[in-house]
Amino acid sequence: MADRIFITGAAGKTGRALLSLLARDPAFAGARITCLSRPGSPCEALLPFGVRIAGGDAAKPRSLAKVYGGEETVIHLSSIFHAGAVLEACRGMKRLVAVSSTRIFSKSWRRAKEIEAAELAIARSGVPFTILRPTMIYGTPDDRNVSQLIRLVRKWSVVPLPGGGKAVFQPVHVIDLASCVLAALKTPASAGKTYNVPGGSAHSLREMIEMIAAALGKRVSTVSVPLPLAEAGAALLGLAGRRYARSAEQIRRLREDKRYDYTEAARDLGYSPRPFAEGLALEISGTGL
Ligand SMILES: NC(=O)c1ccc[n+]([C@@H]2O[C@H](COP(=O)([O-])OP(=O)(O)OC[C@H]3O[C@@H](n4cnc5c(N)ncnc54)[C@H](OP(=O)(O)O)[C@@H]3O)[C@@H](O)[C@H]2O)c1
Repeated sequence: MADRIFITGAAGKTGRALLSLLARDPAFAGARITCLSRPGSPCEALLPFGVRIAGGDAAKPRSLAKVYGGEETVIHLSSIFHAGAVLEACRGMKRLVAVSSTRIFSKSWRRAKEIEAAELAIARSGVPFTILRPTMIYGTPDDRNVSQLIRLVRKWSVVPLPGGGKAVFQPVHVIDLASCVLAALKTPASAGKTYNVPGGSAHSLREMIEMIAAALGKRVSTVSVPLPLAEAGAALLGLAGRRYARSAEQIRRLREDKRYDYTEAARDLGYSPRPFAEGLALEISGTGL
């Protein structure tokens, strides 16, 4: 298997889950792993894995090139928008596994076309690549979706549901995504392919709130907020600054159906994601990662 691996975004949710899987996998015993980390970024969580930390910025080809040591395998997790810089800086790579996003399918998100362009650049690069497109990733206290819903349900007895909570999500547990990255690494036949990587079950926001309340053993009431009102609130949130921009985007996308088919990942990579109820139980108990 790969002897020398270079990972961008290793300190993030998917990166940490991946490192824990790599550490337990005999196929990667003895592999030399270098993790890119932005200067000043907290990377203490990586140290127990015995990896080498290289300070640099994945968005800047020159900064990347300074620390890329000719590793044959590159796992690109920091952002699909850094794909151009990675392709430019990591010239010697022989295998690239890059994580993109199902946001590429969004009709309302202004950067969907940029994801398309980034994926195309990878596909045209000549490097044997596999692109994985996860849905929203959950499973850690720092995820910015399910953990927030859990906090909301813990704190409030009445939960507001934009549009009656009808919007459907298929969140993917971070360990399932990390397992899929590992499977892609181990499957040369996945080179040249792009896969959707959603979770094992799809639920409306209302169902998710009900599942969270049941798992916490709490009674909550819900109140529907008309979508136009929620969208107006989201627009204001967006104006309030970058910190809120993501929440604003999530509300804008509530009109979109976020169910995705993973037949191809199941067939080629043995991808078999857990249902949301199972991942939720892990997240609430603080286990699994
Ligand atoms: N989270 C989701 O719901 C979701 C959904 C679909 C797709 N994705 C994509 O899936 C991938 C993994 O997501 P994740 O949620 O596991 O990531 P994450 O937890 O947000 O972590 C991202 C990591 O990338 C690093 N990073 C960001 N910009 C960088 C730069 N310019 N140079 C070097 N490092 C940089 C961050 O370092 P710092 O500590 O310095 O910030 C962090 O360690 C990402 O590409 C993301 O866009 C995420």
